[in-house]
Amino acid sequence: MRYKFPNYIFQISILIIIAACSQQKNPVSAPSSEENKIIVAKGDAVAKALILTLKGEVKQAIDSNGVVEAIAVCNEKAIPLTQNVASLAEEGTEIKRTTSKPRNPANSPDEFEKEALKHFEKLIAAGESFPDYYTQKVVDGGDTSYYYYKPMKMEALCLLCHGTPETMAPEVKDVLAKLYPEDQATGYQEGDFRGLIRVKFKNL
Ligand code: HEC
Repeated sequence: MRYKFPNYIFQISILIIIAACSQQKNPVSAPSSEENKIIVAKGDAVAKALILTLKGEVKQAIDSNGVVEAIAVCNEKAIPLTQNVASLAEEGTEIKRTTSKPRNPANSPDEFEKEALKHFEKLIAAGESFPDYYTQKVVDGGDTSYYYYKPMKMEALCLLCHGTPETMAPEVKDVLAKLYPEDQATGYQEGDFRGLIRVKFKNL
């Protein structure tokens, strides 16, 4: 008589294969606590440098030429200034600002950033205060990268260009509508979660 495998062995094998494949599909994991210490120290320094740079430029532009002129600074200089801060950091460092409600579609999140945004959005939805950062280790093929995310909250200054339509100056709304026809980045209030500064490292 031929030996027949019991059915459950076949089913268990399929489950193991599915589990193995789905594990391979997710390249994101939590860094070890040793890795985390380094990611947080380096990421925080770079993110703070970016905040200082961008806020400084916007404040200065508003003070000297008003909000409408300051829009041009954000429009033309935000991304180059971000690249500039990255180039001053350790080689291979990349920085990006990202959000679930982008003004500039170039700042839309990729799959790893979406996962990080969800992490913060879930905590907010649950009414919990959220941590100062989030980290990921991404192993993609043979490539390993480390991601540091710093959450940004809305301040009074930000609402001049990201506030509710009723509170924003008509000429500011006009210029923004012309530059960003797909703008999703309005309707915020002070203290709202706006998005993340993402710092990516190749080496620790
Ligand atoms: C003078 C107007 C102005 C002010 C004030 C301003 N922003 Fe923006 N913001 C913009 C513009 C314009 C862009 C699109 C920049 C681009 O094209 O890359 C932008 C983009 C962003 C982005 C990138 C994501 C996206 O939606 O494209 C973030 C994050 C952001 N702003 C946060 C802030 C925060 C936080 C503050 C306050 C500290 C602030 N902004 C103040 C005009 C402004």
